[in-house]
Amino acid sequence: MDLQSVLKPIEDARGLPNDCYISQDHFKIERDKVFFPNWAGVGFISDVAEPGDVCPVEFLGMPLLLVCNKASELRVFQNTCRHRGMILVDEPCHLRGPIRCPYHSWSYDYDGNLVRTPSVGGIGVDDHKNICPDELGLFEVRAHVWQGVVFVNISGDAPAFEIAHEHLVKRWAEFDQPYHLGGEASQFDMLLKTNWKLAVENYCESYHLPWIHPELNEISPIDAHYPIEHASYAGQGSENYRQLTNEKGKQFKDFENLSDIWNSQSEYISYFPNVLFGVHRDHAFAMLLMPQGPEKTLERVALFYATEDIDSPQNQDMLKENARIWQGVFAEDIGVVEGMQKGRHGIQFDGGKFSPVMDGPTHKFHHWVARQLTA
Ligand code: FES
Ligand SMILES: [Fe+2]
Repeated sequence: MDLQSVLKPIEDARGLPNDCYISQDHFKIERDKVFFPNWAGVGFISDVAEPGDVCPVEFLGMPLLLVCNKASELRVFQNTCRHRGMILVDEPCHLRGPIRCPYHSWSYDYDGNLVRTPSVGGIGVDDHKNICPDELGLFEVRAHVWQGVVFVNISGDAPAFEIAHEHLVKRWAEFDQPYHLGGEASQFDMLLKTNWKLAVENYCESYHLPWIHPELNEISPIDAHYPIEHASYAGQGSENYRQLTNEKGKQFKDFENLSDIWNSQSEYISYFPNVLFGVHRDHAFAMLLMPQGPEKTLERVALFYATEDIDSPQNQDMLKENARIWQGVFAEDIGVVEGMQKGRHGIQFDGGKFSPVMDGPTHKFHHWVARQLTA
């Protein structure tokens, strides 16, 4: 695959070739070169909020288990028993005892230590000289939490998250504070018939605003948007953010100690590879792109707020309204991301031509992907 034309300056560059969006073989290459060596988003910290919460995630075929341990820390393991490789947990749940394999009941604590091996030395004999529990703990996966999202580095050799994403972490340092999920009303999923990259690309740019989001464009017009371009993230900001206010004048509480720029500014960033973020003075959201195949992507959305008691009954109407607004905006994008996917089956399409003025963030993403693939 020729990626040299993708790596050119935007004026001369082509977009990624069609195979990057439709080929099963390429999908496997991406897993190994784009997702596993980097920090990819696989869940929300709210998926495992309490000690004993466990949440299985299948990420590009890799079975993972998110666990909240007794010290309320996140651990991520391979969701695979060290005995015969059975999947340990098949649905999110809250455990009271250890993580018990359903096959022969080998059991692990929330830090992944093997703590029980019933009858491993014969009926009623729970140990054997060849079975050394210290060597048979769960395989751990490097994990990091940022902006309410659980990131993993499956290859284990990426630079630490804060180093790999230093620029973005600094950019949004003011938002590095507790995020509280707005309860059930603030989570929704969308299954899209598109490659995950087209969701990233569409989220990067504001060029489409007047045609795809005419109502949003009235409130936050295209000329109030500015592009955000960096080697490892890209997106857009708006200088015209207006908070949701109900008929009684009630608003969500702001995050603590934000500087004045956030009174009217909001930012929307595609974190490479697979998380779409938005931050505002009074709420934030994250959208995980979970590739299900070259042409299918599950989007998991969660909205977060500043106050711990956000999910209380008196807030439900506003929480639902805010989720409804965002769900409506995201739904408007489905037609274009699915339409661009269909367009990539046209054999003459050559990756397309970027507008040097309007498509800078999209080009940054293509450039980043091409660099991963050619590394
Ligand atoms: S496979 Fe897990 S106990 Fe046997
Ligand atoms: Fe959009």
